[in-house]
Amino acid sequence: MEVLGGMRRTSTPNLWRLEHLNIADRVKLIPFDLLEDANVTDVVRSYKFDRIYNLGAQSFVAASFKQPVLTTQIDALGVLRLLEAIRHYSPETRFYQASTSEMFGKIVEPIQSERTPFYPRSPYGVAKLYGHWITVNYREAYGLHASSGILFNHESPLRGLEFVTRKITAHLAQIRHGLRDILRLGNLDAKRDWGHARDYVRGMALMTEQVKGDDYVLATGVTTTVRDFVRLAGEAMGFDLYFEGEGASEVGVEKRSGKRIVVVDREYFRPSEVEILIGDASKAQKNLGWTASTPIASLINEMASSDMDRVAKGYPLL
Ligand code: GDD
Repeated sequence: MEVLGGMRRTSTPNLWRLEHLNIADRVKLIPFDLLEDANVTDVVRSYKFDRIYNLGAQSFVAASFKQPVLTTQIDALGVLRLLEAIRHYSPETRFYQASTSEMFGKIVEPIQSERTPFYPRSPYGVAKLYGHWITVNYREAYGLHASSGILFNHESPLRGLEFVTRKITAHLAQIRHGLRDILRLGNLDAKRDWGHARDYVRGMALMTEQVKGDDYVLATGVTTTVRDFVRLAGEAMGFDLYFEGEGASEVGVEKRSGKRIVVVDREYFRPSEVEILIGDASKAQKNLGWTASTPIASLINEMASSDMDRVAKGYPLL
């Protein structure tokens, strides 16, 4: 099997994840940009792929409030560009669209499944909702094998530092090694259904192996606050943390030293927030035989130990 990776032109290539996984020489990189109609068409027409996994996005929710038009161009119209190219030049290609639990936003049902109505709360969520529905539409209108994976948050040591889980483990590891004093966070009450990316990638592949494309929620069914994530990551690094105060005055204190090491910073609050998400992946379990097999405690321990290791060795935090 040959794997090609579409790569946007940047002044400095960013391949550390492929290198970390030791697969950099097994993926052929090709110039690709979801903003560029002709480029998308050329690539799809030339390679006639068996499978296309569209994981390309402006994926940071907070940034979508600052760059809503760019986010929409990439996350909404980018999907349409791909589907149009597939429809015209490679209709046998099986397509996977990375949809997201952010589409549930201000939740309408306590536990979200494929049947739950959507209520996105950010330009990112709104753009992704377009990507989801256009995938459904091209499947129904043109008979494409197109699947939409509605994935709840999926994390790992390879997560970018702008996302809260990795920010927590990376910054706490730096505090532990005396390289930083404070971890600054936004909404500590936000609750997310956090799973391990490794499990979710397996689910994506299973979707494209089915006789027909469909929509599937992938989730663990367990939700955890940002505050508890901090506490558990701290525990994994030998901190004993408690929280006191409320709202923007809340702080996380290290019991032994009495030092405040976590503070709330309004800069990280979003103009409209998704307060809580919990997914119901029973359709994926029934049709794909998929379940999230990594409990949150193992995920946190893996991320914490990876960042402790990186910091101890003096490696840059990427
Ligand atoms: N990033 C960040 N930084 N988030 C913070 C912080 C902070 O300092 N403090 C609190 N939070 C809260 C956010 O307000 C949000 O409620 C929650 O932590 C999770 O934020 P992120 O880790 O940035 O992820 P997300 O849930 O917004 O979106 C991620 O998951 C989606 C679902 O899979 C992204 O990966 C999306 O691209 C993805 O669609």
